[in-house]
Amino acid sequence: MKITVVGAGAVGASCAEYIAIKNFASEVVLLDIKQGYAEGKAMDLMQCASLNGFDTKITGSTNDYAKTADSHICVITSGIPRKPGMTREELIGINAGIVKTVSENLVKYSPETVLIVVSNPMDTMTYLAHQVTGLPKNRIIGMGGALDSARFKYRLAEALEAPISDVDGMVIGGHSDVGMVPLISHATRNSIKASEFISQERLEQVKNDTKVGGATLTKLLGTSAWYAPGAAVSGLVQAIACDQKKIFPCSVLLDGEYGLKDLCIGVPVILGTNGIEKIIQIELSEADKIHLETSAEGVKKTNGLLDM
Ligand code: LAC
Repeated sequence: MKITVVGAGAVGASCAEYIAIKNFASEVVLLDIKQGYAEGKAMDLMQCASLNGFDTKITGSTNDYAKTADSHICVITSGIPRKPGMTREELIGINAGIVKTVSENLVKYSPETVLIVVSNPMDTMTYLAHQVTGLPKNRIIGMGGALDSARFKYRLAEALEAPISDVDGMVIGGHSDVGMVPLISHATRNSIKASEFISQERLEQVKNDTKVGGATLTKLLGTSAWYAPGAAVSGLVQAIACDQKKIFPCSVLLDGEYGLKDLCIGVPVILGTNGIEKIIQIELSEADKIHLETSAEGVKKTNGLLDM
């Protein structure tokens, strides 16, 4: 099982590291445009192999896409991250050109690949990948919901004063500060609704803290986060590589599901060897339905900025 990660920056390298540590892939190719950078990160990561006990072979490449040939899964993390005070949408000008070139190159050498898009603004970059590659819609997945849901669970556990393994929750909608839809009415602690333990007001606070999860970290770090984004991508990669049939919220091309069409936005899907095995349609509260519609309008507005 060969996996390519494009972009050897913090998110790409942390993604490669988590994939290696989980020890399910035979090979990870890390590719970056910066001379020697991916090779250096790959060598550093390989020197963790005996320490962390993995056999995954990590190699680096400076922009030589021939080295990525026949990858089962390709992850795109390239592009610039946001700086404090910036929205993800503001990155579109630079990142659209990069994601276009990278997707075209990847598909040229791995026409059967499943593509995972991480670059921001992620929902729009996922839509762009569809436009430029023409891959079947089950083979292009935007990573945002898995990360946002992990941040939601972190905030839920904090509010419920519970261990994280005891809580469950999901974030759908666009991967943006205003567009995220943390499903507070579906959130549970060990099958019991979170609302049985904390007030609606506290749940709303959890929701708001989740939505600005990325922005909070960007302010603290001076750039956007990488550990949880890397871990979230590795979870999707593992579900596909190992045909786990797990449910994750992912940004996928919709064609009428949730009453939405012609955009990529986060909804729950089953991931397996074919990429998106199934889009799951769940019953939403009236408030969440309205929020998802508004979120979709926002994503479409950003898609409109694409120069296609
Ligand atoms: C974040 C970036 C990866 O939310 O979008 O941290």
